Amino acid sequence: MDRQVLQLFPANTSVNQKGRLVIGGCDSVELAEKYGTPLYVLDEEHVRSQCRTFVKAFRQFYPLSRVAYASKALLNRAVAAVICQEGLELDVVSAGELAIALSAGFPPDRIHFHGNNKSPGELEYALENRVGHLVLDSLMETDAVINRLENSVHRPALLLRVTPGVDAHTHRHITTGVSGSKFGMPLEKAAEAIGRLAGHSEINLAGLHCHLGSQIFETGPYVKAMDILLDFTRRMVDGAGFELKELSIGGGFAVNYVPGDNAPPASDYAVAITGSLTAGCHQRGLNGPELIIEPGRSIAGRAGVTLYRAGMQKNIPGFGRYIAVDGGMADNIRPALYGARYTAVPAGRMQTEPVEKVSIMGKYCESADILVQDVMMPGIEPGDIIAVPVTGAYCLPMASNYNGALKAAVVMVDRGRDRLICRREELDDLLRMDIV
Ligand code: LLP
Repeated sequence: MDRQVLQLFPANTSVNQKGRLVIGGCDSVELAEKYGTPLYVLDEEHVRSQCRTFVKAFRQFYPLSRVAYASKALLNRAVAAVICQEGLELDVVSAGELAIALSAGFPPDRIHFHGNNKSPGELEYALENRVGHLVLDSLMETDAVINRLENSVHRPALLLRVTPGVDAHTHRHITTGVSGSKFGMPLEKAAEAIGRLAGHSEINLAGLHCHLGSQIFETGPYVKAMDILLDFTRRMVDGAGFELKELSIGGGFAVNYVPGDNAPPASDYAVAITGSLTAGCHQRGLNGPELIIEPGRSIAGRAGVTLYRAGMQKNIPGFGRYIAVDGGMADNIRPALYGARYTAVPAGRMQTEPVEKVSIMGKYCESADILVQDVMMPGIEPGDIIAVPVTGAYCLPMASNYNGALKAAVVMVDRGRDRLICRREELDDLLRMDIV
């Protein structure tokens, strides 16, 4: 098996003597037999080691760094527990994500509540549960929160989300730092928000937040954003008595999906971000704030592998062979939604020579439901297990019941042990919401 392909799988992945893919010490074909397919397999050790990698990379250069995992990438109680044990903080964007985190015992003071349209109920829920941070997304929300906090016993730290007007050169659906983005406030609005918050001594405005987008391969946009944020800070310190205690630069660190992708290591982002922060504060005579980063994909992405069972095949003259699997866009919408590229391997025959180029198609009624285009495979038989790597982030949370699909189970593997952390949906789950 091509080493470059194996490197897309969790770090503890190998091939056993039977020629089978082994993830976290567990034979993937046996996992598929035991739990059924499609199956999300999550390598616990890989998640943990990514948490440590980011904490270490940033603290090494900037001791005041903190890492908040962006739970939208992947969240369930088991994942929340792992993130908690690793000492990270947690971003949530809804009452739903907050409820999952709280039910896993995640300390609320380490939770940051985001969202561009928190409902009054969500705000209430976050305050009742004493979340540590609220990230304000608009001027209107700033006013609403000022009003609400006036009679609240709990006063979370507030961060203002600003849009610096920086293009991170990623897919247009996942870029957020550009002017005109639906997220955050342009600088002039943020200045106004700071003015409004300044009149309220009981309110704790801790600093600024900015998120440029996702799957960002370059470090330059972070440096650019940092300069804009620090210029703005200097202006606000002088003009409005603002104090930058915390600065979140968001997430967006890229991962490799297919051989040939070249995502920078965590340390490259750390050098660029902390370097520009340290130098930028120094140049402007600012005190260095605490730095927060919010990785999601780069923590969970490579930790996850989806196992499918091959079914029907068709050979279309002039177009090649399609192999259908028992999942597709209902468990991974990313190819259809963003044109995201993936690769696949024959989990039960890792040492068999590939003989033909095939495409892996999903089973849903949508022409865009092609999981993998043009991948070399040995002769695949119906029933064979096909593994698609790098599905730990933004697959399960974006899963749907399209065509009556049942959401797949999630199994956590760790050094030879496997445990079900989320059961597969059953037909009854599809029926239980309907009221007849
Ligand atoms: N912080 C904020 C405020 C965010 O909105 C996001 C992601 C993150 C952090 C984490 O970004 P990451 O490190 O995971 O790139 N569904 C899309 C990705 C949407 C990302 C939304 N925000 C996809 O599948 O590519």
